[in-house]
Amino acid sequence: MRTLPFGRPIISEREKQAVMEVLDGPVLVHGPRANAFENDFCTFTGAEYAVSLSSCTAGLHLFYFDLGIGKGDEVIVPAQTHNATAHAVEFTSAKPVFVDAEMKTGNIDIDQLETCITENTRALSVVHFLGMPVDMDRINALAKKYDLFVLEDCALALGAYYKGTHAGLLGDAGCFSFYPVKHMTTAEGGMLITTNKDLAGRISRKKAFGVDKDHSKRKVPGTYDVDMLGYNYRMNEIQAAIGSIQLERMPGFLEKRKKNYSYLEKELSKIDEIKLFQSSYGDFKSSYYCLCVLLTPSLINKRFEIIQMLNQKGVGTSVYYPRPVPHLTYYKDKYGYTDDSFPNASAISYGSIALPVGPHLDIKDMKYIIEQIKEAIFSI
Ligand SMILES: Cc1ncc(COP(=O)(O)O)c(C=O)c1O
Repeated sequence: MRTLPFGRPIISEREKQAVMEVLDGPVLVHGPRANAFENDFCTFTGAEYAVSLSSCTAGLHLFYFDLGIGKGDEVIVPAQTHNATAHAVEFTSAKPVFVDAEMKTGNIDIDQLETCITENTRALSVVHFLGMPVDMDRINALAKKYDLFVLEDCALALGAYYKGTHAGLLGDAGCFSFYPVKHMTTAEGGMLITTNKDLAGRISRKKAFGVDKDHSKRKVPGTYDVDMLGYNYRMNEIQAAIGSIQLERMPGFLEKRKKNYSYLEKELSKIDEIKLFQSSYGDFKSSYYCLCVLLTPSLINKRFEIIQMLNQKGVGTSVYYPRPVPHLTYYKDKYGYTDDSFPNASAISYGSIALPVGPHLDIKDMKYIIEQIKEAIFSI
């Protein structure tokens, strides 16, 4: 039997050697590798500025923190996302206002979004769900109309493009995740990109306690001041060394993802019992994070049996995401959301199975996944 994990970091001798070089040297934090990784990330995405961070969540939080968003403010967030998208708003004491998903892609429903904007709304947060870009022209038009900031949560969108521009460069800032099952990894880690020099400068300081002088610019140790609040959200040199090498390998990783996804999509679209999201088309170029299978109503209550059957045959699966964020206990308790709210996000969360397409797998594996899906669906 094959074993096909949903996600697996692909670490070569080069990453291992780079880690050992850091460990053999005297600098583990505040060194040249984090700066080099930021420059590499700018080259890869076309960003003017990149700030390395301890996680994507850290970047989301710092963005709101920097804008002074807080109590009494509202930020629009999709219901269909990881809780981090909403938690980052909660950290500031502002209120996340959830908007349901649209069924074509699972992205935020932009028609509904406008009806949720109030006089307290300060920012729009969008997530490129499973790597499929949101229609950013429409988002930016609303942001302009109501004078709002735009934050792109790009945790699943490294390698995604909208109208030829990399995700994360279409709003005020974009945040990426390097958690192990993402497009590339630094074990834990994140990056914020922006075209705004001042924002990048402030975030760079606020990720490191608000210290006024970068470590490399301190000629005499201990000569610095702190004139603003800041967190400790830095990326260390070990993570950054891994990151630069992983980034070099990204074109190959993306090519494999696309190939795997396209094969799986072509074959699975022939099965009436399941539906698929719209993938890349026209101006929307996905980063192919995974392939999400939406079960038709007759199969939905058998979803866990199907997942179990797949897992028993070695096919790793996941669910994006287990519940719409407003259905999580913290948000239900705090804001009183009920289980019948956000019907589209619910249909996706409670009725889908995510299949792997990562670069650890190839077309042979895709064929095996298709066989096992058919077997599970038709025998149940
Ligand atoms: C959409 C989204 N945003 C944010 C995060 C959090 O990323 P990190 O673990 O790097 O903080 C995740 C994690 O999977 C995610 O899926």
